[in-house]
Amino acid sequence: MTQHLRAEIDQVAEASIAALRAPSILNTQPWRWRLAGNHAELWADRSRQLDGLDPDGRLLLLSCGTALHHATVALLAAGFAADIARLPDPARPDLVARIRQGQPCPPDNRLYRSIYRRRTDRRPFSDDRPSQAVLDELRAAAERHGVHLHVVRDDQLTAFASAVAHAGDVEHGDARFRDDLLTWTTRTREDRDGVSARSAVPAVRRTIAPRDFELARPAALDPGPGTDRGTVYAVLAVDAEEPADWVAAGEALSDVWLTLTAGGLAASPISEVVEVVAVRVALRRLLGGVGHPAIALRVGVPVDGIDPVPASVRRSGTDTIGPPGQ
Ligand SMILES: Cc1cc2nc3c(=O)[nH]c(=O)nc-3n(C[C@H](O)[C@H](O)[C@H](O)COP(=O)(O)O)c2cc1C
Repeated sequence: MTQHLRAEIDQVAEASIAALRAPSILNTQPWRWRLAGNHAELWADRSRQLDGLDPDGRLLLLSCGTALHHATVALLAAGFAADIARLPDPARPDLVARIRQGQPCPPDNRLYRSIYRRRTDRRPFSDDRPSQAVLDELRAAAERHGVHLHVVRDDQLTAFASAVAHAGDVEHGDARFRDDLLTWTTRTREDRDGVSARSAVPAVRRTIAPRDFELARPAALDPGPGTDRGTVYAVLAVDAEEPADWVAAGEALSDVWLTLTAGGLAASPISEVVEVVAVRVALRRLLGGVGHPAIALRVGVPVDGIDPVPASVRRSGTDTIGPPGQ
């Protein structure tokens, strides 16, 4: 193997390691990386798909999309563009992407630093509203992936809040949804995945409550003094409902989230509204012509001086990154 090829593999291997920090639905981390020749393959891991919450695998592909974008950010920090073939083989639909080191470019660390600072922050945010300039930046980040970011307008907020509440009620009344929550909130320390009580907040008065994980143990993250009065709710929407659109939505979610983290903001996704089909359809109608909702997100200014949210667990590279065919 030439020195040159070795260096290429090292860069994509490094990128796949950074991508392990990507966010995923219920922290399922439904991906596998395979290092092959001078490129890496990102595979969807169907054994980690949620039967109740995500029977079509939309959120699974969205989660793989966040990992793919994280990898491109890591390559960019090393001074290379990413050369990506998305869903390159129709005969193997779980092969999400093939990624290789592209042209050299000036190293860009801005979003790379956010990979390690980003958290799902479910606490109420402050009274301050994210500025219009930042929201425009987030819209541009989504559009880079052909995905539209729609900020829920004040006159749409009550209907949006009802949609979130209704989706939560439907899910808590359905054994299949509850099974998924139970499985992924009771993982062992060795599993290194799932959602733990350390990242969940107890119920407090607020317009839109984050998902109730029905945890066996009390939610342990102090909600702090935030009010959510300045919080902005946004929906990422796609033009079509194909696997490629969910991957793109995941890349956009990652880009938006790392961008807002770099700008000192915080966020947490709201995916209940797309998990329940009737609510997803109603949300599409409510937003009127922006496309198919892929995921919603609350975005806000963290309360001044508040502690960072603890980092959530991840599986190791040994468990998720390997040679081809395994
Ligand atoms: C597709 C997707 C859907 C998600 N849906 C929700 C959600 O509805 N509610 C929530 O509180 N967090 C949601 N999350 C956040 C994950 O639970 C979180 O990324 C994961 O637990 C890892 O934690 P971290 O983001 O702090 O690293 C979602 C994340 C992704 C990528």
